[in-house]
Amino acid sequence: MSAIMSLTQLNIWLDVVFTSLYVVVVLGLSGHFIGNVLTGRVKKRFIGKQWPHHEGPPVPFLPKLLHFTHVFSMFALGISGMYIRFPFFDGGRTAMRWVHYVFMIIVTINVLWRLWYAFFARQRDWREFAITTQDIVTAPKVVLYYIFVKPSKPHLGKYNVMQKGTYILFAPLMLLQAYTGFALVTAPFIFGYSPRDLLVGWWLGVLVGATDLAGWYARTVHYTINWLFIILTTVHAYLSMTEDFPAFQNFFGMGGGHDHDEHEEHAPHGVPSPAESAGEHS
Ligand code: HEM
Ligand code: HEM
Repeated sequence: MSAIMSLTQLNIWLDVVFTSLYVVVVLGLSGHFIGNVLTGRVKKRFIGKQWPHHEGPPVPFLPKLLHFTHVFSMFALGISGMYIRFPFFDGGRTAMRWVHYVFMIIVTINVLWRLWYAFFARQRDWREFAITTQDIVTAPKVVLYYIFVKPSKPHLGKYNVMQKGTYILFAPLMLLQAYTGFALVTAPFIFGYSPRDLLVGWWLGVLVGATDLAGWYARTVHYTINWLFIILTTVHAYLSMTEDFPAFQNFFGMGGGHDHDEHEEHAPHGVPSPAESAGEHS
């Protein structure tokens, strides 16, 4: 009982901490945008049309489709999930639970498909996400660029080190979100066992003393990751639109071209960048 009490308190604490953190993130991004205006980056990009240059073949259709499905599903899951926790209007419970249950299946298939694509498809692209020694060595420069200390950032491949880090982080977070999410299903439809029994009951349930308590932990982790996604997606969407709007348009199938490359340093000529070698998929 006391453990349940402290979990309730933990949940309230999570609400307060993450809501405040989200406000800080939005203020930070607003500040960053003001920095973009003051340093002339907005003018150079949106008016002067100077966007990063992209080498290599165009992005294939499948990753674009999977990303689009991902974005759509994440919004559906975020909104319906938040509604399940905080019913912010009357009478939507059944519908919102349906939305969550449908999109949880779609997003789980989607993330497994994207991981399969990254590692096993003919056009597999996991190398684009691999963090290289050069990435680590030049990481401080990337950070200095984002905080306006340096006017340009090193260009080593398709994604910079911060993008790579974020994209790599998305995968385990998604898998953990799916795991803890299915652990919230208590209907015993699998030979008399529920997904909760099968996912957490037999080990965490035994460890903490009860399957339901294990379910509480799963719910708390699920809710925490929900916030991490809200924060990461906000930053990711903001940067994708402000740093490379043509790539954003292209990624969402809206076309969009670009002229010059003004704010990226390229690897010295003749030295194949990781992106170039990654371009030669087998
Ligand atoms: C990846 C697959 C996912 C699965 C299998 C899943 C499953 C579930 C389930 C079964 C519930 C309980 C629903 C109920 O009580 O009827 C739930 C709640 C919730 N889900 Fe998900 N979900 C997934 C992804 C997500 C994502 C991506 C987000 C947010 C971006 C999210 C946010 C939430 C929230 C906020 C709740 C309410 C938790 C609470 O009451 O504290 N879920 N999820
Ligand atoms: C409004 C929401 C979003 C926008 C506007 C957006 C935009 C973009 C853009 C433009 C790219 C391509 C970057 C480039 O080629 O340089 C990208 C890549 C990526 N995004 Fe998002 N994104 C959003 C949400 C998400 C979400 C919710 C996730 C995952 C949970 C995600 C995961 C990724 C990953 C893993 C990549 C790497 C490329 C790939 O998946 O093929 N994005 N995003």
